[in-house]
Order: sequence, then C-alpha cells, then structure tokens
Amino acid sequence: MPVELLHPDEDRFFNFALELVKKAGRLVRDAFDQPSSNVQTKASNTDLVTETDQAVEAMLIKGLSAEFPEHKFIGEESVAGGQKIESVAGGQKIVYSDAPTWIIDPIDGTTNFVHRIPMVAICVGLAIKKELRAGIVYNPITNELFSAQVGRGAFRNGFPIKVSQTEVISKAVICASLGIHNMVSFGEPWLDIALGNQRRQVLAGVRGHRSFGSAAINMVYVAQGSVDAYAEYGIHAWDIAAATVIVREAGGIVIDPTGAELNVMGRKVLCAGTKKLAEELSGMLTHVEFVPEG
Ligand code: IPD
Ligand code: CA
Repeated sequence: MPVELLHPDEDRFFNFALELVKKAGRLVRDAFDQPSSNVQTKASNTDLVTETDQAVEAMLIKGLSAEFPEHKFIGEESVAGGQKIESVAGGQKIVYSDAPTWIIDPIDGTTNFVHRIPMVAICVGLAIKKELRAGIVYNPITNELFSAQVGRGAFRNGFPIKVSQTEVISKAVICASLGIHNMVSFGEPWLDIALGNQRRQVLAGVRGHRSFGSAAINMVYVAQGSVDAYAEYGIHAWDIAAATVIVREAGGIVIDPTGAELNVMGRKVLCAGTKKLAEELSGMLTHVEFVPEG
C-alpha cells in the first residue's frame, strides 16, 4: 500500500538527514578516541555537555537549515543554551509548531561518551504537523545505524528489525534507569519512586533490568527485540523523538507511562514490544507528572 505523506518532500528530507548523520558520526568517533578534559555541567552535576555535543549539533543544524531553510529545530544544546524557548505562565516552553521540525540530540549518552563507554547515539527525528514522521539513531562507535520512516518499516544497518513478542514481565528484560537527574526536582523521595518501580518488577519475576545510559539506545534495543520494554521519567523530546518512530515501525508500542497517548514534550515514555506487556508495566509504575516542555 502506498505510504501517505504529510509533505511531498518527506523522503528527500529523510535521505538528506541520513547522509548528514553519517558524516556527524565521524566527528563523534574521532572525539571518542581522543579523551578531552573539557566537560561542563548544565542543569545539575550529572547533566554533562562537551565540545563534541555542541559541534555535532551545530553541524547538523547548519547542514539541514542550508538545505531546508524553512525548517525548524529543537536541539538539546540549543535549548540548553537558551534558544527556541518562549516564556509562558508557569515556566518556559520549547517552540513546537506545525512546520517540519528536526528534533536533535547530538550525543545521547553524554555521560557514556565522557567515560568512554561505547553506548552513544546521534539522534535526529523529524516531526511534521507535530506528528513524528522519521527517525535516525546512529551509534558510530559500534556502527549501528537505526532508521525508520512512518509506513516504511524500521531498519538496522539496512536490515529490517522487529520487536519481541513477550507479553509478560516474568519473561521480560526491561530497560530502567534510576534517573538520578530527577533528584534536582523531587529530592530524595524520587529514589523511593524509582526503586519502588524496579522492586515491583523484580517481585513480578522480571528476567533482569538493563540501563544503557542512553534513552535512544534503550529504545532501539526494544525496536530490535533485544529488550522487551523500557520506561523512563524526566527525559526530553530529543532523547526519544527519533527512536519513537523506530520502535513503532518495528511493531512496538510507545506511549505515556500512564497508558495515555505519548506527548513527545511530556518528559516521560514507556515502550514495549507488545500491548499486553506495556499494560502490565504501566499498571505497576508509580506515575510522576512533569510540566510539558512544549
Ligand atoms: C540522557 C540519557 C539518559 C537518560 C537521561 C537523558 P544525554 O541524555 O538519555 O539515558 O536517563 O534522561 O538526559 O544527557 O546523555 O543526552
Ligand atoms: Ca539525550
């Protein structure tokens, strides 16, 4: 069946971005091999940024905006640097419009990058009319390139991938992180929530927890069926936008942890290979609300 496009040039957008991401991969790979002491912190002591994060984001935005001048960008480092934010009652919001918008995390897994753990990903997602349409997640260290466009399937290095068919927690491996950056907002009670969530999964017989230090890698590992589910609170649009399309196109579910529809700006995510597993996991989480970012 022909794929219904939201924009006649969607394929061109995607193919151009794919080539650019491969070039960005060289920057990340070279920098990974040359440890730098130039590491700065952002919102907290655990929120890191390096020159490479900034250089890769600048390179991606420069390349995409030269080719597609009318497109918009939501990039982790641009937002952290104060750009593309409007003040509204109750806080600040990222400007997120109907225009074709690239949602970019230059390096997801910056702590891994700094510690030279090879689980890092360049993430480029494309939203049109606020619908996530395409995603690229590239780990240039392990040479794993995940990509998907709505209606065209999900791929790893060009080969189709599929989620697992696991329906119960007692047969599942689940990605979960303690999310210690949430202590900035919630203080020590956060730990009771995060540990309580993992505890209930352990008591339900989960086969094991994994945490790769990159939301995007957690998600593409769900997409390729290596792990069965993943839930996290306190993430951002750039951590999950690209990988959301990849998980869905691999046959998986990506929702709000409460079971509601995903709001990519909502700062939380649950994904799983099957609806049944997503429901079981959702039912045993203590849910936490965040102010949506856009
Ligand atoms: C982080 C990673 C991490 C997740 C954090 C993210 P960064 O992104 O995805 O796995 O737990 O919420 O902020 O800072 O490495 O780009
Ligand atoms: Ca990230």
